[in-house]
Amino acid sequence: MDHFQYRDGALHAEDVPLETLAATVGTPAYVYSTATLTRHYRVLRDALEAHACLKGALVAFAVKANSNLAVLATLAREGSGADTVSEGEIRRALAAGVPADRIIFSGVGKTDGELAFAIAAGVRQINVESAAELDRLIAVAAAAGAAPAVALRVNPKVGAGGHAKITTGGEGDKFGVPADEALALYARAAASPHVVPVGLACHIGSQITDLAPLEAAFRLLADMTRTLRSQGLEVTRLDLGGGLGVPYSGGAQTASPADYAAMTARVLDGLEVEAAFEPGRLLAANAGVLLSRVIQITERADGRRFLVLDAAMNDLVRPAMYDAFHEVKPVVARDGDPRPYDIVGPVCETGDTFARGRPLPPLAAGDLVVFTGAGAYGAVMSSEYNTRPLVPEVLVDGPRHAVVRPRPTWAEMLARDHVPEWLR
Ligand code: LLP
Repeated sequence: MDHFQYRDGALHAEDVPLETLAATVGTPAYVYSTATLTRHYRVLRDALEAHACLKGALVAFAVKANSNLAVLATLAREGSGADTVSEGEIRRALAAGVPADRIIFSGVGKTDGELAFAIAAGVRQINVESAAELDRLIAVAAAAGAAPAVALRVNPKVGAGGHAKITTGGEGDKFGVPADEALALYARAAASPHVVPVGLACHIGSQITDLAPLEAAFRLLADMTRTLRSQGLEVTRLDLGGGLGVPYSGGAQTASPADYAAMTARVLDGLEVEAAFEPGRLLAANAGVLLSRVIQITERADGRRFLVLDAAMNDLVRPAMYDAFHEVKPVVARDGDPRPYDIVGPVCETGDTFARGRPLPPLAAGDLVVFTGAGAYGAVMSSEYNTRPLVPEVLVDGPRHAVVRPRPTWAEMLARDHVPEWLR
């Protein structure tokens, strides 16, 4: 459930009419709902807390899904930790008030500098993804005179997810240590005085709608935990990643957080580990919309009808990149029979097409629409392609709203480039 609802025919974000935001902030703009973010966090937390073996589990929001400081602060206030994949994301999580001991540092290509930064920041754990990385981490930790907690990310050879480009657990994917190499690597980490292996991690993909592949991966981690313990090694934590899908309206049904928690509890029951989860999309996707205005309707003699919006692929790249489905809704409910529209933006390539033949009620130039499900992997993946200003972000909380990232001015955009002396 989200808090973007029609009241008297006008779409609101909580108590704020989206028309008001379009008038004050302009379009395109991302709009996030505090009540929806906190609701999603609590639904997951309560689902986990319902099981004895998951009590106190760490929910570490995947910062990559939405890294706006206001969004992170909203979740931090609820008790969320952070799953991070770069120094920049660690800096954002800390700046938003996430305690260092609730920050997990993941990623296949952490630089020595980033590892040193994470150690100095005192993050909860560093998820190591390869033997080469373990060697570098040991060297960096030795130089720092530290012994950080590490988890080994296992590649379980179980890939899953909504699109080939967001599957991460498959055998050929770049992520994680193959299970058959991980046991020896864990022992190697345990033998080093410069790292403390605390557990195992996995993340097999994103927008996963069926629990079976997740269960297979979790069972593998549980089995490996037992094997490592039988060898006298300590395993106290399992980081089960993110990946649970969300219902993008019109898309597939997905497993619920309650079913996900119950499945996980079945697998971990009796194992005595601290569990951690790294949801991104589940918390943020349906807590945000991309608000856009119709520039014009282009009708062709052959009957083709283009809805040309002021939002483009640089603002929301998921349809172009993953053929992702985002529902488009008019901000003011319109009567009239739906008709098919090709929904496009102004960017100069055909990839800048959000949907083809999408049935919508009759719309006109100047009308407002939203893309729903845009709170995760929306603004964070935006760019200034075609020198379009980076799309602003707005956070709504009940009747109030704040611009939490302003649209840059033309002067700010141009001032970032420098023309060398010899060209002046
Ligand atoms: N943990 C790790 C280690 C990850 O790599 C990811 C996402 C997550 C957690 C969070 O996954 P989630 O719960 O959001 O599914 N840009 C793509 C999604 C890429 C996901 C990458 N990893 C999209 O727009 O669909």
